[in-house]
Amino acid sequence: MSTVLQPVGQLVGPASNESTQKGSGDTVVKFGVVGYGYWGPNVVRNLDQLEASTVVAVCDKSPTARKRIHKSYPHVKVVAETADLMSSPDIDAIAIVTPVWTHYELTKAALQNGKHVFVEKPFTSDSAQAEELINLAAKKNLKIMVDHTFLFTGAVKKIGQLLEEGTLGKIYYYDSTRVNLGLFQHDINVIWDLAPHDLSIIDHLIKETPEAVSATGQSHLNGFEDVAFITVYFPNKIIAHINVNWLSPVKVRTTLIGGEKKMLVWNDLEADEKIKVYDKGVHVSSREGLYNLLVNYRSGDMWAPQVEQVEALRKELAYFVDCILQDQTPFNDGIAGLRVVKLLEAASKSVRNQGAVVHL
Ligand SMILES: NC(=O)c1ccc[n+]([C@@H]2O[C@H](COP(=O)([O-])OP(=O)(O)OC[C@H]3O[C@@H](n4cnc5c(N)ncnc54)[C@H](O)[C@@H]3O)[C@@H](O)[C@H]2O)c1
Repeated sequence: MSTVLQPVGQLVGPASNESTQKGSGDTVVKFGVVGYGYWGPNVVRNLDQLEASTVVAVCDKSPTARKRIHKSYPHVKVVAETADLMSSPDIDAIAIVTPVWTHYELTKAALQNGKHVFVEKPFTSDSAQAEELINLAAKKNLKIMVDHTFLFTGAVKKIGQLLEEGTLGKIYYYDSTRVNLGLFQHDINVIWDLAPHDLSIIDHLIKETPEAVSATGQSHLNGFEDVAFITVYFPNKIIAHINVNWLSPVKVRTTLIGGEKKMLVWNDLEADEKIKVYDKGVHVSSREGLYNLLVNYRSGDMWAPQVEQVEALRKELAYFVDCILQDQTPFNDGIAGLRVVKLLEAASKSVRNQGAVVHL
């Protein structure tokens, strides 16, 4: 992380003029965190541990959650009302780690109060909300980062590198299976819960603009789809398929990426060899027209490239803090979040019409 500090811009009150000292005396970004349920503790822990950030206050409307915060972080202010964070002159940035239906209101309040925002995936419940927030942040010269955690994993970084170097050749498909038993959400379906991961990954890795989405799904228990199959069509015959399911007896996190030259398997549940690259492929040639196709199968070596072992969320939050301090726009900004929300909207629309193609 860089320690060369630039003016922070839109910090309000004393936070814009004074720097809290931490560790070696670097200027630190002071955070308020909203939401301390399942994912919030990971955000708080990392922000608390990073050299260039500190957690000033955490808000949760649940008394049980507030007790847990106080027990783990006795030095941190614990509040029940978000207004206490939003208006605090001691806070530079707000991390929003609450359910998606709250993201719009909370992000808007934070931006209106001059705070940078780190907001969980998916960015918002619809694209109009996302667009409004992007414009508001731009007007106020504030940063939005959407937590697309997987983009900061060693695996996605390595796959990006392999694609960029041309190791796989022209990409044919991305095919992901992200299934497990639960956790059932009460406000969103399995698409809005699990697919943002893959949609943000394909948005990052595939350097083409998606053209259309088709999706099917079914709800069996609580009125929200618990099983879904999403297909995203890109130019140049690139196709992505995402299988998300809360009703799977086993947990699977496996992605296949097929290319003209090589193919890879990414098993995120593997401890060591998460990515395996196969020198396998098919070459089709025709000597006497279409009826005499010669199909050659190539089956060469397999290798497992080194994948950096990092806590992705820690890397991501460190990058966000750096973006604030250096006045840089994160690549996983509100606009990236909006692209994912548009794909989610298209998938939901298609599901309602039993897989009808939705053009983007
Ligand atoms: N990036 C990832 O890998 C990842 C993983 C899990 C969850 N998430 C995302 O994190 C967000 C939260 O998910 P979760 O599983 O932690 O949910 P959760 O329900 O376990 O926790 C949410 C917490 O927020 C609190 N809360 C809700 N509204 C509030 C409000 N207005 N003011 C104060 N507190 C409020 C609740 O009391 C609860 O403690 C979701 O957007 C989810 O998609 C991301």
